[in-house]
Amino acid sequence: MKNIALADEHSSFERPHFDVEAVRRQFPVLARRVHGRPLAYLDNGASAQRPEAVIDAVDDYERHHHANVHRGVHTLSQEATALYEGARDRLVQFINARSRHEVIFVRGTTEAINLVAQSYARPILKAGDEILITYLEHHANIVPWQLVCEQTGATLVVAPMDSRGEVHLDAVESLMSSRTRLFACAHVSNALGTVLPVRRLMAAARARGIVSLIDGAQAVPHMSVDMQDLDCDFYAFSGHKMFGPTGIGALYGREALLERMPPWQGGGDMILAVSFAGTTYNTLPYKFEAGTPNISGAIGLGAAVEFLAGLNRVAAHAHESALLDHATRALSGIPKLRIVGTAGDKASLISFVVAGVHPHDLGTILDGDGIAIRTGHHCAMPVMEFFDLAATARASFAFYNTFEEVDRLAAAIERARKIFT
Ligand code: ALA
Repeated sequence: MKNIALADEHSSFERPHFDVEAVRRQFPVLARRVHGRPLAYLDNGASAQRPEAVIDAVDDYERHHHANVHRGVHTLSQEATALYEGARDRLVQFINARSRHEVIFVRGTTEAINLVAQSYARPILKAGDEILITYLEHHANIVPWQLVCEQTGATLVVAPMDSRGEVHLDAVESLMSSRTRLFACAHVSNALGTVLPVRRLMAAARARGIVSLIDGAQAVPHMSVDMQDLDCDFYAFSGHKMFGPTGIGALYGREALLERMPPWQGGGDMILAVSFAGTTYNTLPYKFEAGTPNISGAIGLGAAVEFLAGLNRVAAHAHESALLDHATRALSGIPKLRIVGTAGDKASLISFVVAGVHPHDLGTILDGDGIAIRTGHHCAMPVMEFFDLAATARASFAFYNTFEEVDRLAAAIERARKIFT
């Protein structure tokens, strides 16, 4: 516990200035109290909070512009369409896609990965083919591949991780072969915080002609991502983890691949012409957006992108790194606490267990102190199995968190430990 009080030790001269209080003021929920205590929201990995800019953009749309998109000559429909497509343009720029044909609106990361599994992989897979993933994947980057393997007779191959929760390039490369039809991996592990060496992994896949997908759900909130630099074929992410609404996310896909893929859902908006003799599909990106989309969600996501683009992301990242360092030191000082996931390169989240205290009990006690963390298997049961655990507690930070909140977390864990042990 001796390390937890000195927030000043993190006032590095080299760290770019980041006005965390000014940023916090833009997130209304951060001002609330929970059980009489100021909220310390440390569950950003599950879902991040929304800034006023996102709330206002959705509110403005709902109050003044709502109508269906791409379907009306009337003013409201034209306005809704302009806002919806404007959000797509912001995303294209934000992730540096080559064109707006490459950004598909989906419900979130899970739907994006299922789309690729069903529309890209299923038509080409046959018995003997392999899909390669890694050990630390979220269920959303495991189960869609299991389903498509069951449907086609292909095999799911899993690259190992080590006891720190790291995935090594050579271990992955050794499993890439002429049978590998697709390689999919997380950018950042939601259960451990590990940042994977995605550029090198993508290069290894590309050198062997293997199509690649990155689950970017936990990366986009913490770092800039550049599709042309990463050189992946698909990249999936969710709006609600990057300060936007729930029920909206995006799939980036390389245009040449998306062009060849069949639609994965049929309905309105994804067609150019329909007759009983057959249907002509719409062009990209609409071919993959059947039915009335989540218009307000997309507009909110566009506002979240604008908010992030307006932030000094280098300074925000440095602040988050300092929070992670501070939390790692503070939690390491607590007797009987073990940090699960000690990779050299981590995003700002810490999974941990305290001997003698069930993670759910810990979560409940912390909630009584106004501190929100996630407890459980984090939709990554193979990771839990690897570490021989049923569950962990997880504190996941955003740029709006403070050193004081980390200190409160450490003090509350210590109090809980004393109750149980
Ligand atoms: N995938 C989300 C998490 O890690 C829900 O908490």
